[in-house]
Amino acid sequence: MKTKLIIPITVSLFSLFFSAKAQDGKSIFAAKCAACHSIGNGRLVGPDLKGVHSKYNSTYLVKWIKSSQSVINSGDAKAKALFLEYNSIVMPDFLDLKDADIKAIVSYIKTQSGGTVATK
Ligand code: HEC
Repeated sequence: MKTKLIIPITVSLFSLFFSAKAQDGKSIFAAKCAACHSIGNGRLVGPDLKGVHSKYNSTYLVKWIKSSQSVINSGDAKAKALFLEYNSIVMPDFLDLKDADIKAIVSYIKTQSGGTVATK
């Protein structure tokens, strides 16, 4: 009897956890990223982030979002090219964001990116 309850409880806890995560991602994105980035609505100050979760792995995204200038200055040629393409506009560092916050933002980007992935 008890084991029958465990599965639905686990499932609902999981979905609660994941929806809370996406929700946090949404509010962090709105507060810290949306001024410069859209997801699927084209370039703003920075690139459209639609599909960016499949362009880079999460380790790279965490590094980039915490300090894009460190990535650019580490000799990463692609990062440098992107920086130059965007007129050397410096994306601010987000050292206050925890890895989990960044993963929540990336999950949110994923949910907003739909099925098709932007190539640029
Ligand atoms: C002041 C404007 C600004 C803010 C705020 C900002 N960005 Fe950026 N972002 C940029 C610019 C400009 C670039 C292009 C690279 C460069 O110039 O350094 C960029 C590049 C990126 C890229 C690489 C995109 C690609 O296609 O390679 C990611 C990922 C990214 N930003 C995520 C974020 C996230 C997540 C936030 C919020 C936590 C954020 N940015 C906040 C301006 C901004």
